[in-house]
Amino acid sequence: MFTPYYRPRRLRRNENIRRMVRETQLSVNDFIYPLFVVEGKQVKNPIPSMPGNFQLSIDLLVEEVKEVHQLGIPAIILFGIPEHKDEVGSDSMSDEGIIQRAIRAIKEAVPEMYVITDVCFCEYTSHGHCGVVTDGDVDNDATLENLQRQVITHAKAGADMVAPSGMMDGMVGAIREALDDNGFEKIPIMSYAAKYASAFYGPFRDAAESAPQFGDRRTYQMDPANAREALYEVDLDVEEGADIIMVKPALPYLDIIRRVRDRVDLPVAAYNVSGEFSMVKAAAQLGWIDEKRVALEMLTSIKRAGADIILTYYAKDAARWLAE
Ligand code: PBG
Repeated sequence: MFTPYYRPRRLRRNENIRRMVRETQLSVNDFIYPLFVVEGKQVKNPIPSMPGNFQLSIDLLVEEVKEVHQLGIPAIILFGIPEHKDEVGSDSMSDEGIIQRAIRAIKEAVPEMYVITDVCFCEYTSHGHCGVVTDGDVDNDATLENLQRQVITHAKAGADMVAPSGMMDGMVGAIREALDDNGFEKIPIMSYAAKYASAFYGPFRDAAESAPQFGDRRTYQMDPANAREALYEVDLDVEEGADIIMVKPALPYLDIIRRVRDRVDLPVAAYNVSGEFSMVKAAAQLGWIDEKRVALEMLTSIKRAGADIILTYYAKDAARWLAE
């Protein structure tokens, strides 16, 4: 009989020692909770493919933010769905837009909550693309000017951080310049630096009513097959002044999260996107998996891969589970 000399199992014998040698600690401090805001009063539209998530009118959004705050979650990221969409996404650049009013209402009711805005156009444009469309394609530099207009309205409304998600070349530099020129040099930028053209955004596009009306997003979002290109995108955003680098989606891109973590010293965020959430929810509803254990394992894997911050629809559940 072979008798092993080395026995790693010694450090797994009971929960106390396992706790002591655990390398990754998931915490409520890691989470950003995404929220969807719509026009109206007392509106709470369930999002069928994302159980437990709703499109909320501003009055109910404020109530939701109070609950998120009570759970100890430090930050939310807001997505706005305007009543009227147009070619350029005017609502997203108006001081009276849905997002700008939502920010002011939240900051008045729950000033402690850290409010991040998703900076993009796809929810606001009639064609559903992430910028100004010229000749059937998103016009990069015209979109940069509108991004500058949009972030100023967010900052004026009281946003704590802006998070551009449109994958336009130069978006971080353009936004940094606009913020600084308008006295908002204290507002950080969390850049969706490596954002892939992913099918995992499907449920979100229902929630945000932001599916492109023609074509797809492959002329601006990244090819899922590319990894080195992600590092190039990240380098550019660091150079342009990003404060936090995001990788999105998370689970199918854990290798990218790790490589980005090893490359930059800035905080790394990962977006555990709608499709990742919906898959777990659906399997749990069918009784095929243990939801709590699977969700916590998923979030732990994202943190272990190198993310400091996780944007997740599981934030509220996970906050409760971690407090048990
Ligand atoms: C774009 C944006 C998207 C998501 C966040 N910001 C969708 C897209 O690129 O089509 C997806 C988030 C998710 O799937 O949870 N504004």
